[in-house]
Amino acid sequence: MSELEELHRRIASCPDCGLCRTRTHAVPGEGPPDAEVLFVGEAPGFNEDQQARPFVGPAGRFLDELIASIGLRRDQVFIANVIKCRPPNNRDPLPGEIDACRKYLEQQIEIIRPKVVVSLGRYSLAWFSPRDTISKVHGQAQVKDGAYFVPMYHPAAALHAGSMRKVIEEDFRNIPAVMELARQSPPVQVAQEPEPEQMRLF
Ligand code: URA
Repeated sequence: MSELEELHRRIASCPDCGLCRTRTHAVPGEGPPDAEVLFVGEAPGFNEDQQARPFVGPAGRFLDELIASIGLRRDQVFIANVIKCRPPNNRDPLPGEIDACRKYLEQQIEIIRPKVVVSLGRYSLAWFSPRDTISKVHGQAQVKDGAYFVPMYHPAAALHAGSMRKVIEEDFRNIPAVMELARQSPPVQVAQEPEPEQMRLF
């Protein structure tokens, strides 16, 4: 069994927070272990909890369209979430749940070592970059922890507010250039983080 499969097995039976009592299935995430791009959403919803797969409901259909719009197939990218189990009634994740689950996304990143990490929504942005605000940084790439990091609005935002659709589609159009940049000049870990403004690439 691969390291990633083993990790996903542990996630499937994780007892580390109260969501283990209400979930149908944990949703570890899916994709090739050597994916160049990692998308990180917030938490499984109803459909994901039923199927044990990430982004398979209405927001997932839009994410599939977005991935296709930049010339990628869903099976070429890795899709995961900040927390792996559905909060009851799709409520927001609690800080204790995010903390209990932190190790799993950290280990996934360590195994996959993606060149580009795309956060989807504010909980995912906060996981990677707690001081940033999504309305200010969406669509802008920065170097973070040895990868290019691109925060995006959550695809579900477009389902609630139609005007967000265009914004998200436009932000996604930056991803191929960031992937190319990542291939040409792999991000170098700097000893001291420069001011965030100096790190913005787009
Ligand atoms: N929303 C998310 O953030 N993740 C999913 O897997 C599904 C919907």
